[in-house]
Amino acid sequence: MRMTVREATPEDAAVVHRVVHEAFSARPRLDPPAAALDETVDSIRTRLTASGGLLCTVDDDPAGSLLLDPDGDDVWLRRVAVEPRHREHGIASALVAYAEDLAASRGFRAVRVVARAELPDTVRFWENRGFLRESADGTALVLVRSLPVSVDVPTADDMRALGVRLAASARPGDVLLLTGDLGAGKTTLVQGLADGLGVRGHVTSPTFVIARVHRPLRDGPALVHVDAYRLGGVAEVDDLDLDAALDESVTAIEWGAGLVEGLADDRLEVAIARPAGDEAGEGRTVRVTAVGTRWRDADLRKLVA
Ligand SMILES: Nc1ncnc2c1ncn2[C@@H]1O[C@H](COP(=O)(O)OP(=O)(O)OP(=O)(O)O)[C@@H](O)[C@H]1O
Ligand SMILES: [Mg+2]
Repeated sequence: MRMTVREATPEDAAVVHRVVHEAFSARPRLDPPAAALDETVDSIRTRLTASGGLLCTVDDDPAGSLLLDPDGDDVWLRRVAVEPRHREHGIASALVAYAEDLAASRGFRAVRVVARAELPDTVRFWENRGFLRESADGTALVLVRSLPVSVDVPTADDMRALGVRLAASARPGDVLLLTGDLGAGKTTLVQGLADGLGVRGHVTSPTFVIARVHRPLRDGPALVHVDAYRLGGVAEVDDLDLDAALDESVTAIEWGAGLVEGLADDRLEVAIARPAGDEAGEGRTVRVTAVGTRWRDADLRKLVA
């Protein structure tokens, strides 16, 4: 099975219309009925011409589609449809992931979607993908997900400056989960966080210490710097008893991916990478993703810019 997602053009209107019609007619009857069933080939073509959409094919067979509907800084995903015979193959996930990447690369802040409360599996699908409930109009739920942002960080000083900027919007209880290879620049970013928060002590790679608390020099939260590199597993994370400190501090965790997510439903994931082909150079790219309600309404673009 070869699954492909691509941008749909106005020429795809008839195909997209068929996918939408088959997907939405196979759903349980809703009251009021899904407006998707009112779409015509013309109305789909108009939407594709105005703002585009995506088409997913499986071995060249149209299997799923969605329409993009920009609204200021945000994009609505409309008519998210999977052909009934192509269900349970990850087609909706592939479409949504593609849409998120596209929207992020075009500089949008968030994606939104309407899901009907009568279809709990659908609501769960969105929530599992990190969408958060924002409002409800009758049984029509609006779910939103803020989009990740990527920034180029040419030098170590720029990495510290990024840490300072992140500190400016940090609140007590915030958790930053830093990922990236050895020497990627995680500790360097934490040094900037420490500067920005105005905390005591020099931030270094804690070789023997797993967690170090930097007390505030002025009003504001402490910084807890955790290096989970030597932690054996989730049980040892629990032994650190971070829970108590988390609420009053800003916590930055290196090497915690796969270990500490359970401690922090709300977190900023900061992924540092070296651009491909420049492994020896100084350049880094940093991708910041928000997880949980803490940053639901935040504009990550402003956070890092
Ligand atoms: N653009 C950059 N951003 C961050 N650090 C950079 C950059 N360019 C060069 N560096 C250098 O790379 C090194 C990064 O080391 P750092 O200790 O911050 O990495 P780390 O990700 O914490 O590593 P570890 O996995 O060992 O904890 C530093 O020596 C820093 O000066
Ligand atoms: Mg480090």
